[in-house]
Amino acid sequence: MANIWVKKPLKQLLNEAEASGEGSLKRTLSAGNLVALGIGAIIGAGLFVRTAAAAAESAGPSVTISFILAAVGCALAGLCYAEFASMIPIAGSAYTYSYATMGEFVAWTIGWDLVLEYALGAATVSIAWSEYLNKLLATLFGTEIPYQWCHSPFQVSELGTQGIMNIPAVFILFCLTLLLIRGVQESATVNAVIVVLKVAIVILFIALGWQYINPANHMPYIPEETKVVDGAGVSHDFGGFWGIVGGAGTVFFAFIGFDAVSTAAQEAKNPSRDMPIGILVSLVVCTILYILFGHVLTGVAHYSEFRTAGKEASVVYAIQKYMHDYQWLGTMITVAILAGFSSVILVMLLGQSRVFYSMANDGLVPKVFSQLHPKYRTPYRSNLLFFVFVGIFAAFVPGDVVGDMTSIGTLFAFVLVSIGVVIMRKTDPNIERPFKTPFSPVVPILGALTCLLMIYGLGHENWMRLIVWMGIGLVIYFGYSVRRSKLQRK
Ligand code: ALA
Repeated sequence: MANIWVKKPLKQLLNEAEASGEGSLKRTLSAGNLVALGIGAIIGAGLFVRTAAAAAESAGPSVTISFILAAVGCALAGLCYAEFASMIPIAGSAYTYSYATMGEFVAWTIGWDLVLEYALGAATVSIAWSEYLNKLLATLFGTEIPYQWCHSPFQVSELGTQGIMNIPAVFILFCLTLLLIRGVQESATVNAVIVVLKVAIVILFIALGWQYINPANHMPYIPEETKVVDGAGVSHDFGGFWGIVGGAGTVFFAFIGFDAVSTAAQEAKNPSRDMPIGILVSLVVCTILYILFGHVLTGVAHYSEFRTAGKEASVVYAIQKYMHDYQWLGTMITVAILAGFSSVILVMLLGQSRVFYSMANDGLVPKVFSQLHPKYRTPYRSNLLFFVFVGIFAAFVPGDVVGDMTSIGTLFAFVLVSIGVVIMRKTDPNIERPFKTPFSPVVPILGALTCLLMIYGLGHENWMRLIVWMGIGLVIYFGYSVRRSKLQRK
């Protein structure tokens, strides 16, 4: 009889890390490097695309309050991540921690759920990349890729053209997959350059856009509660408290990636001190920038414009339409955004292949996901399979849908990690914890509740998508993984 709660001994985890060569990772990253890593993975499509979507579909100008709510959920969950990352400072993710602490079934659940975060996250950002590429082509060459070849079949243009497939999104995924197979190591320098570029652009937009804020666009700051029907024909709350909550679920996407800091635990010089600093400081910096950015964006253009003409590449739309003196900024922002998106996609694809690499080594998914390229030593088959999987979503599903699925998947992982901290304090009180989540169990429970509130705000279609995805996972676990698991076979 299989024991689905079997735990992977911590010692074995450490040994495996040694054997695979990861044990030789150098502890070189300072707190500053970790903050840069965090910001590099965080600022992306969430800010440049989903802020406008959240304002248009849920919160109006109060999208700034949505940002605060999402940040609170992330900070509380971030403290829990920091406890795990310092307790088990091994390169890896929530999957690895949970295998050692909460057993195989929970580990599987988190690993399977992380596909939503990483694979669909990459799809979402690649779709956003496609939008901004089109804006750039339009500005530079006065031409655009025909609507049907850069939109999913579920989208129809204002002129009635139906999408067929999103080719630029697949194109960027393909290029980055090839890079990953070649073994691209995002060096600290490249990452730092992109981070400086991204942050500079955000600050520039805030500073220059501030003078173009039209106070009328901010009235009322929290729109009255009503129902709106979105492009997919689904009716949901707009305005008021629930508008803010729904908006938080949407812009939550903009914070995804801070947990990537925790995957570098093994390379941190002083993980117990620097992990929490890396996670929390990158969160604070991004939150401040996001609130100001949301305030300016909804002040420059009215949120209702982001339902129609300004739905895509909304930041450039606002600049081109209202900030007449700064047309050059539009082009510059587009280039910076395209570079910034590429690095986010790369990190997501990398994270995805790492999680499945570990799961394949444990026998929970087929070996093909851990086979390394003879020359480049990268899991190239896994990279290619995920290119196909992610590419299908990028080509045929609208960005809003994959974006919300990414958000709900990540929120669910945060809930599990937060609950995991409380359980672990009870079951294994004596493990050394260099960093402890303060006021446990209050902080983890509040973290889980805030994330659950945002899951609620994402609406029932997204709950159904999550349930279906996790259901497929259950079938695979009981049909395949539980029998192939190396730990079970022992
Ligand atoms: N937070 C990342 C982004 O917004 C995923 O693109």
